[in-house]
Amino acid sequence: MGGWAPYLLTNRKTHTSITFGSGTLIVSGQSLFCACRLLLTPDNLQEGSPVPNLVVVGCQWGDEGKGKIVDILAHHADVIVRFQGGSNAGHTVVTRKGTFVFHLIPSGILSRGKQCVLGNGVVIDPGALIEEMDRLRGQGVRIGRNLAISQRAHLIMPYHKAIEEASERARGMKRIGTTGKGIGPAYVDKMARIGIRIEDLLAPSIFRQKVEENLVEINLFLEQVYHMKGFRAEKVCREYLNYAPRIHAHVVDDSLLLHTAMQQGQAILFEGAQGTHLDVDLGTYPYVTSSNACAGGACTGTGVGPTKIDAVLGVTKAYTTRVGSGPFPSELTDAIGERLQERGNEFGSTTGRPRRCGWLDALVLRYAVRVNGCSSLAVTKLDVLDGMKELKIAVAYQHGDTIYTDMPAAHHVLTECEPIYEVLPGWKASTSKVTSYKALPREAKQYLTRIEELTECPVDLISTGSRREQILILRNPLAHTRSRLRVAQVSA
Ligand code: GDP
Ligand code: IMO
Ligand code: MG
Repeated sequence: MGGWAPYLLTNRKTHTSITFGSGTLIVSGQSLFCACRLLLTPDNLQEGSPVPNLVVVGCQWGDEGKGKIVDILAHHADVIVRFQGGSNAGHTVVTRKGTFVFHLIPSGILSRGKQCVLGNGVVIDPGALIEEMDRLRGQGVRIGRNLAISQRAHLIMPYHKAIEEASERARGMKRIGTTGKGIGPAYVDKMARIGIRIEDLLAPSIFRQKVEENLVEINLFLEQVYHMKGFRAEKVCREYLNYAPRIHAHVVDDSLLLHTAMQQGQAILFEGAQGTHLDVDLGTYPYVTSSNACAGGACTGTGVGPTKIDAVLGVTKAYTTRVGSGPFPSELTDAIGERLQERGNEFGSTTGRPRRCGWLDALVLRYAVRVNGCSSLAVTKLDVLDGMKELKIAVAYQHGDTIYTDMPAAHHVLTECEPIYEVLPGWKASTSKVTSYKALPREAKQYLTRIEELTECPVDLISTGSRREQILILRNPLAHTRSRLRVAQVSA
């Protein structure tokens, strides 16, 4: 499709025309076709914005810069909702007021007057949540009723962290390299139907009964299999029931809240955590997290039906990183990898671990665009590639006599394959101060166009630095909603 394909830009609410400062516009009835790249800024992104519901997901193995992108888009949404994962996430946003790191709370909380929600698909460590609320408040962020927590969200219990730690130790060389936050065991209990939910925390006798019942089996497991000390129900209950008053006022039915917001014409932004290739179903299994980090998870993780989702924005770095174990075909273990790590400051915001770095991988991205149904992409950290003589993009994998042009599922293929690279010229100039797409070095534009061609998905946003203003907005990612596309077909 490429970035030059015609796009329909209409106002969904009123279906009236909108005008932009630049671009070739062909008026067709009440619709406007734009056959050229439009340059928007974070301020005029609002212009002509409809009120669609947009899912933002990571296209790689997490840390793509989702937090920064959600922070920018949150200004133009009404509700921002996390739908999966827990405090394994680390989303960093840099503003004039400082650096904010989010583990559970949507980064949209920085935008005044927005409703933030922790959806039912999230697993919540209440201690970690309270710590995050207090830390953010200390940084001047207002957190009151603007933070809602689903009554159906599951709790991470102290024994989840103990089980994870023991299991990782027992795996030895085969360990997943988890964040140690108890995520996997919490989702295991949810699926085993012995999970404890936020609503239980508000009903002390039910909570006590569930903890006591669970600990019978869990203590046996910890003591007999891992030779660890079990947990005392009384101690666990005392700690957790102390958290309840801090959380009580935030607890809601998330599905109902979002439904009501949609009825009022409000725009919902779904903030993904982790990334496509860490998704428990669609990622590089078993080296994945335990939730659905793909766009589909936005529905089950919030109680919003698929027909309500209008667009999916996939976020990708201009290169690739991965933290923890697992296959990474385009990984660089040489000086170039070190350079990416150093220039990109590639150290995890949750665990501080160094992130493994490598070239951009078109198979990874094409797969992400497909399984998420991405309507457009945001490319981040373009500036990290400044000054590199040449750049490589993996366009196929070779495994024995087999050439793969689409992401293989088998773990051993992903581990053993050799990537086949396409080489592109690098650029010398710095992109971090560039304020228009036009002003980007020619080779940077060529690189971005190649990403669009290889993924068959348009690039809407380009990030050239960690700060809010270091963003080039080529097109409003809310512009290609399905309803718009349908109108386009009818008009054509
Ligand atoms: P997330 O988990 O997807 O939200 O990503 P993280 O916040 O864990 O990691 C992205 C890191 O890159 C953060 O430290 C951001 O401040 C930073 N960052 C985001 N966009 C850019 C960019 O375009 N250039 C540079 N140099 N840093 C960026
Ligand atoms: P954000 O939202 C990068 C990785 C861990 C490990 C695997 C499983 O900041 O992009 P888990 O603790 O989830 O059971 O660990 O998943 N992982 C992430 N990697 N970014 C994240 O989140 C991650 N969350 C989990 O390193 O390999
Ligand atoms: Mg992160």
